[in-house]
Amino acid sequence: MADPVLRIDVLTLFPTLFQGFLCESILSRAIERGLVAVHLWNPRDWADGKHRQVDDRPFGGGPGMVLMAPPVVAAVEAIQLAAESPGRLIALTPGGRRLDQSWVRTLAGEARLILLCGRYEGFDERIFEVLEPELLSVGDYVLSGGEVAAMVVIDAAMRLIPGVLGDAESATDESFGVEGGLEYPHYTRPRLFRGRDVPSILLSGDHQAIDLWRREQSRDRTAQRRRDLVDPELAPLPKLKRPPGTPKTPRQTLPLAIEDPLTREPPAPDESAGRSERKP
Ligand code: ADE
Repeated sequence: MADPVLRIDVLTLFPTLFQGFLCESILSRAIERGLVAVHLWNPRDWADGKHRQVDDRPFGGGPGMVLMAPPVVAAVEAIQLAAESPGRLIALTPGGRRLDQSWVRTLAGEARLILLCGRYEGFDERIFEVLEPELLSVGDYVLSGGEVAAMVVIDAAMRLIPGVLGDAESATDESFGVEGGLEYPHYTRPRLFRGRDVPSILLSGDHQAIDLWRREQSRDRTAQRRRDLVDPELAPLPKLKRPPGTPKTPRQTLPLAIEDPLTREPPAPDESAGRSERKP
């Protein structure tokens, strides 16, 4: 079979979460027809030790577990080599840039995406420093992991690939389309439902008038429900109050010898060797 239009590699500790998602409806048809390919990988397969550990407690204390850098970085580096193009690497995290339809359009135009799903409290920061992924959030709320967010990205992107949607499901005339606003209201049979009739213009057969009515509806809805799409003026960030006595720019230093917060013991001598103090 020829290369898919879009290849998506997903790195997840829970690949079975994707089973139902990949086997139903539009996406499964797109996969069958070779337009989209989704490959699932588990970072545990790159983890060391008998227990193949992929997460650990956070340095500095706090709740939850953090995804470890070594297995995740090793997995991504191996996966990048599994196809001709290294792909566009995206980490799913609530701290990322919020996904919108224009970003989805860009992603749908790529040949390959690699989606990195976090779990637990999040990723070890060194994963971001070493791999430099783009950070993507699906909204300002916290999910239990990046898997559902990855499904959002896959679903939104694949339906924009030419040939994935039939004419009946066309993506040309929907919310966040070329005009950027919300979609107009739709009606189907029965014509009368609980005393509510379909707007008469839709029964007129005058396609120009219908088109104009729909555009007006779309504009009015957007203004009423999503003013931010019409007037996206950003609210200024609230000022943070500094507790009295704290210096203006806290010095970011990495001490030469620090206590290991997990074991409460100082590090072994060779562990701190070669570390230097970072300049702020
Ligand atoms: N992981 C947890 N919450 C998320 C969100 N809102 N977007 C992307 N990934 C996430």
